[in-house]
Amino acid sequence: MITDIVIGLQHGDEGKGKVTHHLLGSGEYTHCVRFNGGCNAGHTIYHNGTKLVTHSIPAGVFYGITSVIGNGCVLDPVKLFEEIEYLESHGINVRDNLKIANNTHIITTLHKDQDGKDEKIGTTRTGNGPAYRDKYNRTGVRACDIPSLSEFLVDIYEELSGDSVILMEGAQGFWLDPDWGDYPYVTSSHTGTAAAIQNGISPRSIRNVWGVIKAYETYVGKRSFQPKKEIFEHIQKAGQEFGATTGRVRQCNWNNLKEIKQAIAMNGVNRLVVNKVDVLREVGAWATTDRYFSRELLFRQHLNEQLHRGLGIEKIYFSDNPVNIGEDMPATETPSWFSREPYAMLT
Ligand code: IMP
Ligand code: MG
Repeated sequence: MITDIVIGLQHGDEGKGKVTHHLLGSGEYTHCVRFNGGCNAGHTIYHNGTKLVTHSIPAGVFYGITSVIGNGCVLDPVKLFEEIEYLESHGINVRDNLKIANNTHIITTLHKDQDGKDEKIGTTRTGNGPAYRDKYNRTGVRACDIPSLSEFLVDIYEELSGDSVILMEGAQGFWLDPDWGDYPYVTSSHTGTAAAIQNGISPRSIRNVWGVIKAYETYVGKRSFQPKKEIFEHIQKAGQEFGATTGRVRQCNWNNLKEIKQAIAMNGVNRLVVNKVDVLREVGAWATTDRYFSRELLFRQHLNEQLHRGLGIEKIYFSDNPVNIGEDMPATETPSWFSREPYAMLT
């Protein structure tokens, strides 16, 4: 068993779907597993030029790879069948590749009604929180109790055992984790490497942990996140920052490198992808929460220096398109033509 994990290091919507889809294209994986969250997630994927959004179904289905909804997820059967139909109407063979861990908990109509009344957190109102609540209250319903799911059910340990090469597709982001996020403005399942391990794999099988960030940050929910500056409205527009699940506007801010470093360290991230560099290029502004840069190269150089050093990152990729992860930037070398400029502090 060899396992690679893809996780978000911000507040979700980092582009994990794209990274997962790109990695699956290598052809080496036997399984793709979703290990947390449920239909609160929205992963935007460009497959053969078509834009598709998934919620519960792992991206392995795009390549005919066995795709498992893991026991760390919660699952809404009504939404699942809608998603199967949606993907199959776009020519994706879901039914022959989809598996569901028999111990995955179910989102019921009651859960959706309860979550639908949320005014405090700004949840996606998809019933995830109440379903996890009942799981830990030991009053939940599991996939093995639902007849319509029987054709998909597996014992996830048995399914993943043996000569498997697994890609684990995370949802949400580390700073939405119930323990590590800004509680109570968090999601209801764990979002890091530890969450992936709970889904029938051995921790010793982990090869790469891919951490995904955007060149800036976004957040959807009730707390106030976006500073009152025009630049963030430009970023929001250029980056089309609307929730893939809820359609709500995503609040924007610059990257907080301190938080990203902690997320890298706590999750054992060794590969980092920085998405949506093209958006900052379009608005013509380069900054983090404490510094701004006069041009793109200085911004990249700063991230490269700050996020490699002592953190165990072997490769950083800067991506400026919705399809692939772009070129990796050497960890230690500074290009010879690069002239060091003093960084300006943001006021
Ligand atoms: P819930 O996960 O639906 O309970 O929502 C809790 C918080 O997590 C809200 O702020 C949601 O907007 C946020 N959230 C949940 N899933 C995602 C996601 O996939 N991307 C971004 N935010 C999310
Ligand atoms: Mg999303």
